[in-house]
Amino acid sequence: MPLINTQVDAQRHSVGSTLLLSAAIALLMFSAAQAQSETEATAGNGAGNGVEKSVFGHLPDGRQVDVYQFTNANGIELRVTNYGGIILSLKTPNVDGEFDDIALGFDSLEAYLSDEYRQANPYFGALIGRYGNRIAGGQFSLNGESYSLATNDGSNHLHGGDQGFDKVLWQAEPFESEAGTGLVLRYTSEDGEEGYPGRLETEVTYTLTDNDELMVDYRAVTDKATPINLTQHSYFNLKGEGSDTILDHQLMINAPGFTPVNDTLIPSGELRSVDGTPFDFTQLTLIGERIEQDNEQLAYGGGYDHNFVLDRDNAAADELVLAAKVWEPASGRMVEITTTEPAIQFYSGNFLNGDLTGKQGQTYGHRSGFALETQHYPDSPNQEAFPSTILEPGDTYRSRTVYRFSAQPNVDS
Ligand code: GLA
Repeated sequence: MPLINTQVDAQRHSVGSTLLLSAAIALLMFSAAQAQSETEATAGNGAGNGVEKSVFGHLPDGRQVDVYQFTNANGIELRVTNYGGIILSLKTPNVDGEFDDIALGFDSLEAYLSDEYRQANPYFGALIGRYGNRIAGGQFSLNGESYSLATNDGSNHLHGGDQGFDKVLWQAEPFESEAGTGLVLRYTSEDGEEGYPGRLETEVTYTLTDNDELMVDYRAVTDKATPINLTQHSYFNLKGEGSDTILDHQLMINAPGFTPVNDTLIPSGELRSVDGTPFDFTQLTLIGERIEQDNEQLAYGGGYDHNFVLDRDNAAADELVLAAKVWEPASGRMVEITTTEPAIQFYSGNFLNGDLTGKQGQTYGHRSGFALETQHYPDSPNQEAFPSTILEPGDTYRSRTVYRFSAQPNVDS
């Protein structure tokens, strides 16, 4: 069985098996196979492992964009496009075995390319780079040189700039390994792109395992020292995308501290304990429980939009530690996130305002999805005390984050 069930493969198979039949019958089967393959690429939860590839659309310059669909042994279905490495949908079962798509996003490439979307810029499901999160004033110095980046978030640089890794076409290669099936995405960011130094060769691998995990592996090399902070910007609503708010989800973040910010969401440099604050998620707590409290940090973020410093407890730098866990009581769905990163940004979807319409025709309202972005701290290139985000030539950037999906009626805090 070929790994990718492309239209071409489907045609070959169909024509091959009808060699002795008349040309007319072959032609009929040919069209049938083509039609079936096209439907398969957008169908619901199929059983069994596999990868299916189909055309998602074309960029204004004519380049083709594809979508890859993966299904694991338990019917979990993941759809990813090589435009921005965007996770388009993720269908997982609730406690009764009913599947829903829990990832916010769209069904068409046009929706991701639209002016409306680019203005709102929520980065639904996308790979973020070269530097996830903010760099103050879009400025930093490295090895005696000053660099200026786009200021695309007020006075700051956000998520890689005007055309970050979320808005470029990645080269994609599906694979099957012992761990599962998945997609390797490669993108080379040229020296000077978006103002960053060095030609950065980036590789991100999505693996969907039969253990109901989505593994994301990041790797990069550069020819000049450069800041790098790659992450994944999926928004989930565990009741199903297009449902109302995520305020009824319970969240645990394995973080004793967070980095308080100023009113433009740049860290002050302080590492503050979460103790006695609305930022204490060390036990499962309703996201909505304290979000409206009168608190300066919550006011700056319009809710949660903060970098939580994980308890890595002497773990080696390449060791996965539990970063966060989210459980939604009605569906029983849970996602557990482990990572090699030192921190995680918890963003409670505060900028969503109902302007964007999702896959089921429902609008994405205020706080109708949450993002948990594993990462290094924001503004690290300007903050000496923060763990370094500088990748040197000759070194390899490596990072891994694993999302494990399950469903259970109850959960321990
Ligand atoms: C990150 C940021 C938020 C917001 C979202 C995208 O999570 O921290 O402030 O920009 O991305 O809307």
